[in-house]
Amino acid sequence: VSVHQLHRTAFHFQPPKNWINDPNAPMYYNGIYHFFYQYNPKGAVWGNIVWAHSVSKDMINWKALEPAIYPSHRFDRKGAWSGSATILPGNKPIILYTGVDPSDRQVQNYAVPANLSDPYLRKWIKPAGLNPVVDPEAGVNASAFRDPTTAWWLSGHWRMVVGSKRNHRGMAYLYRSRDFIHWIKAKHPLHSAPHTGMWECPDFYPVLLSGKQGLDTSVVGKQVKHVLKVSLDVTRYDYYTVGTYLTNEDRYVPDNTSVDGWAGIRYDYGNFYASKTFFDPAKNRRILWGWVNESDTTSDDVRKGWAGIQAIPRIVWLDPSQRQLMQWPIQELETLRGTNVKMNHQMLKTGDHIEVKGISAAQADVDVTFYIPSLDKVEAFNLGWSLTDAQLLCAKKGSKVQGGIGPFGLLALASENLEEYTPVFFRIFKSSQKHIVLLCSDARSSSLKDGLYKPSFAGFVDVDLTDKKLSLRSLIDHSIVESFGAGGKTCITSRVYPTLAVLENAHLYAFNNGTETIIVENLNAWSMKKPLRMN
Ligand code: FRU
Repeated sequence: VSVHQLHRTAFHFQPPKNWINDPNAPMYYNGIYHFFYQYNPKGAVWGNIVWAHSVSKDMINWKALEPAIYPSHRFDRKGAWSGSATILPGNKPIILYTGVDPSDRQVQNYAVPANLSDPYLRKWIKPAGLNPVVDPEAGVNASAFRDPTTAWWLSGHWRMVVGSKRNHRGMAYLYRSRDFIHWIKAKHPLHSAPHTGMWECPDFYPVLLSGKQGLDTSVVGKQVKHVLKVSLDVTRYDYYTVGTYLTNEDRYVPDNTSVDGWAGIRYDYGNFYASKTFFDPAKNRRILWGWVNESDTTSDDVRKGWAGIQAIPRIVWLDPSQRQLMQWPIQELETLRGTNVKMNHQMLKTGDHIEVKGISAAQADVDVTFYIPSLDKVEAFNLGWSLTDAQLLCAKKGSKVQGGIGPFGLLALASENLEEYTPVFFRIFKSSQKHIVLLCSDARSSSLKDGLYKPSFAGFVDVDLTDKKLSLRSLIDHSIVESFGAGGKTCITSRVYPTLAVLENAHLYAFNNGTETIIVENLNAWSMKKPLRMN
């Protein structure tokens, strides 16, 4: 492996070279998963954007095809930007995407497969006489008008949303159509919120009140809630609310447990942006794709020859509390699990770090349940600390600052003498009678290299500790640590670039730096195999 390729991932979605960003139009069609993404065919920085296209039978082993959508007409001359797929009645896929026209106006276009009997749907047509299907009309900001959603069908019309802003107000403009070609803007947006800026890549879908099953995007009724996700380009995080779709008014109203904007709930408290879900009818689940950008410098990207990967696809469902979603890596990932090692009933005393030996620690899947024998010595939550800025708290209380219960967790991508390590850990506080659980993924100690972005990402975990257990799963893949706390309540993805803790020199430890003993009730770690090309 050349020194520049030490940080390429093995089991995450990543093309051989060049820049990638947003996932586009994920869909399932006749036994095949299609995945498109924003791609620069000419280099490792953003630009010259086309829709690259890959197909798979399991979303793990992929086959790369030629780009499906690329600038070819006036209506997408300056770019083929993000969009979504809808499967029309009669099993006919159709894509809506944003084109940038010669005067830099963002317009919405449609594309359909040239040949529905090609199982890979390689060629896509953009009827010239009919596109664009949506122009930014008077009063709409034409340079902030993009990323159409999957459409849903309701009482005689298709509906879809285009992301935008009006001054600083984030907008989810609603459009209706009978035929998918003539679209009329609704009088009111589906939703909007002040002071949130541009809403990129909106996503709107129903979730069942209980259970893990996913739903087709058009489902409405008493058995569902709706989720609206937007990508805020100022902070570069994906935020969602859980709420109600008032079908009579064609408006979405977030529940009072959900807030719009930067204080809202995130899919992921780390590096995860421009995400998009789709309904998988083959397994009745809703799957979330998200773009994971680099955290090294642009010159590093150019030297590597690539930038950007996709997170492992996650199933999403509503938590029984109905306040938030749950997320978990698709089960197909488990087909890559190789050598397995276990740790059972392992005591972690103050200051312990115990190695998980026998796996390839730079390319691993780790699933651990911690047991907390006593919560008596839990430290007080200082009321001066913010409950909306977990990252600040994690920066203050890193993996080494001793607490009562925690910090405890995993040291991923660690060098033998801990010159480098990415700690993923819990720390528990108490405020009046309530426990407050913090999950951190702290990149500050991840690399000896300077000039990298090494944030101490963190999120709170809305969990009750009556069973005194906390679980953590981390997917470790050379330059990414993708973690799922408490069964998927709080997720954090970090990009890290160790210099020593690479390949077979990477180690994995369980650790505890709290005053109270923690028990690793059980831990399973697997070496992960590299996917094959789809056959
Ligand atoms: C989000 C985004 C989208 C746009 C695309 C362009 O990352 O800015 O709003 O359609 O990327 O590549």
